[in-house]
Amino acid sequence: MEKYVINGGKISGSVKIESAKNALLPMISASVLTDEEVVIKSCPKLLDVLGMLKILNKLGVKTQFDGNDLIINSKELTSCHLDDNLTRGLRTSVLMLGALMGRCKTAKLNYPGGCEIGKRPIDIHLDSLKELGVSVCDDGKEIFCYADRLIGKEISLSFPSVGATENLILASVKAEGITKIHNYAKEPEILDLIKMLNSMGARIACSNLCVTIEGVKELHGTKYLPLSDRIEAGTFLLAGALTGGEIELINAKPQNILPLIGKFCESTCKIILKNDIIYLKFIRGLKAFDVTTGPYPLFPTDLQAPISVLASVSKGKSTICERIFENRFGHIEELNKMGAKIRVDGDTATIIGVSRLHGERVIAKDLRGGAALVLAGLNAEGQTEVVDVKHVERGYYNFDKKLSMLGIDIVKVKEL
Ligand code: EPZ
Repeated sequence: MEKYVINGGKISGSVKIESAKNALLPMISASVLTDEEVVIKSCPKLLDVLGMLKILNKLGVKTQFDGNDLIINSKELTSCHLDDNLTRGLRTSVLMLGALMGRCKTAKLNYPGGCEIGKRPIDIHLDSLKELGVSVCDDGKEIFCYADRLIGKEISLSFPSVGATENLILASVKAEGITKIHNYAKEPEILDLIKMLNSMGARIACSNLCVTIEGVKELHGTKYLPLSDRIEAGTFLLAGALTGGEIELINAKPQNILPLIGKFCESTCKIILKNDIIYLKFIRGLKAFDVTTGPYPLFPTDLQAPISVLASVSKGKSTICERIFENRFGHIEELNKMGAKIRVDGDTATIIGVSRLHGERVIAKDLRGGAALVLAGLNAEGQTEVVDVKHVERGYYNFDKKLSMLGIDIVKVKEL
């Protein structure tokens, strides 16, 4: 197990935001929809990215990095059965369902199962694929999908699930006829996936009401630069505020994290937005605020744990309500060990701000909760150890190195 040992510091400097993890993963799935070469430019070697590439390699797909560009060639795809040793613990493997149905009308995978933040069912995924004519054999452990033909249809999702929206789009781009998806998830990463698919010859249009997909016979290759990671951007902005410093984000899209930026304006940080640059400077003591997470464009659930650290050291009483996942407060117990005063009742955390946290040895249990503990370590007085950082490195590339370049005393060491 590896851990970060953090002695804090004041952040000052610039950091370039990587391509968005939650756009890269569906784009890697989408690459199997063509047997021509797909290049995903500026792709960070995140653990989740590497995990998806192992799954593709096992299917006979060729993948390689040329510098930071990821090159994928699915010409020799030989199987549509996902290896359950590789999919276990990588929930995003479920996105291969839609892509493989789009490519070969067959797919087999084990139930991705729950994770640290919730049960993560896929009923909406399966129900919407059935609407396209997919037969689903499901024994609760293994799912086998097949279709003689995929026929476009008008479908309304019971909940704007990000993954279900992506799976349905991936399965319908080569279906016969028109598919319309109502109540679809509108996260920026989905709109970017649509842009990438259209660059491959798909015919997808979006309105506020629905996504319309006109099925095409074939897709061709592409060279595509994904949008930047709004969750990484938000995490670094919080790091700047929590250390009383200043930070400039390069390759950041302010319009994708307006709910977070609004919270900073409510508290006391100076924010300057300029094209793809966000500049934040801490001014003085932070004020309490309230957050409720929800589907885009509401406050993103992936920034709920990180912003709970800011609330922990903001003067007054803050409340954070997690409306997307049923078990996404795993970091609270660890934050309270560091001196935070947080009480959880159901889906709501009530936080009484303290002046500063103190260093402790804490355990990362999930990706964003682990990132929150790193942020807490930046603010804390004394040394903090965040153990089991593989969770964090699933979604943050070179996180320790970037923080170190920004003036933080942080090293990664093996926990014996
Ligand atoms: C995506 O997960 C993201 N992952 C998550 O980011 C993100 O938190 C989530 O969307 C919400 O924005 C990727 O994009 C790889 P959902 P996904 O389907 O698709 C329930 C991170 O930290 N649901 O929108 O799994 C589900 O249980 C990760 O980067 C069903 O009930 O999210 C959850 O409560 C974590 N049935 C809610 O909907 C279904 O069939 C939202 O899930 C599907 C989902």
